[in-house]
Amino acid sequence: MSRLHVVSGKGGTGKTTVAAALALALAEEGKKTLLVEVEGRQGIAQLFETEALPYEERRIAVSRQGGDVYALAIDAEQALLDYLQMFYRLGGAGRALRKIGAIDFATTIAPGVRDVLLTGKACEAVRRRNKDGTAAYDAVVMDAPPTGRIARFLGVNAEVAGLAKVGPIHKQAQAVMRVLQSSWTAVHLVTLLEEMPVQETVDGVAELRAAGLPVGAVIVNMVRPALLGEAALAGAEADKPAIARALSQAGLGGASRGAKAERLVGPLLEQAREHAARLALERTERAEIAALGLPTHELELRAEGVDLAGLYTLAAELRKQWNA
Ligand SMILES: Nc1ncnc2c1ncn2[C@@H]1O[C@H](COP(=O)(O)OP(=O)(O)O)[C@@H](O)[C@H]1O
Ligand SMILES: [Mg+2]
Repeated sequence: MSRLHVVSGKGGTGKTTVAAALALALAEEGKKTLLVEVEGRQGIAQLFETEALPYEERRIAVSRQGGDVYALAIDAEQALLDYLQMFYRLGGAGRALRKIGAIDFATTIAPGVRDVLLTGKACEAVRRRNKDGTAAYDAVVMDAPPTGRIARFLGVNAEVAGLAKVGPIHKQAQAVMRVLQSSWTAVHLVTLLEEMPVQETVDGVAELRAAGLPVGAVIVNMVRPALLGEAALAGAEADKPAIARALSQAGLGGASRGAKAERLVGPLLEQAREHAARLALERTERAEIAALGLPTHELELRAEGVDLAGLYTLAAELRKQWNA
């Protein structure tokens, strides 16, 4: 069986980006990796600069080390047809079911059913074997729903297994739960060094643990560099005259040097104060994250955003950190 990496986090923190970077990083280690999307946003296709993904596993990136990244946008309706096909050998009847809208019914009326199908498909890829018995994929990475919904999303199979006491659905839901609650799975949470996302991460970890779901790593994304240490910033206030002198020596004072340089010091110190406040906040957030006792990785904020080249850089950064 392969490893299942579920990537969640507060919306907008970079879940899709981090899931893609993780899939690339695993491929760079020579692993055949499947990156799956479950929310139908085509975020993966956009990131890898390819056309919209069909409901079909497609190779979207090749690594220098020989591992590949395949991608799949899981569609609940297609997954339901797969599922009915698998258990009931429906054949053409599947098409008829779709015509009469039975699938719309199943996937919109009961949201839980939708989630069972999505996680079920991901777990099928995790368990799939080649003809020679080896795992079809070394790793499956899921770009998952946000932290607020993740425990529910992954735990829905336990509910379904409880509701349907016997039969194929019970079996399927149990098989999925066996994968999700085992050491084959790791749920990673993406956060920023800000109060709200960190709080969601802390709550998310508690919820996942309560649901018996294995928490993996915390990935702190969009980390901004510290320009000056906090001590240096604190010292800046006291050094006002020295700063004015340095500014004027650097030619920033203009003709009437002393006076003009003096006027520059105020705004500069204001910026320094803001920077110091941000660093202090980040220190608090880092401490909150550290208290979770989980492996933690940091990815820098890329000023130019994340294109395909940027994705490879983030992947390399992840590997450097987990191999350190
Ligand atoms: N480390 C980073 N540096 C710069 N921009 C980033 C970084 N990570 C993500 N982004 C950008 O932030 C935006 C949201 O990222 P995305 O992965 O789509 O988040 P989510 O899936 O959580 O909604 C995107 O425009 C993405 O390119
Ligand atoms: Mg996304």
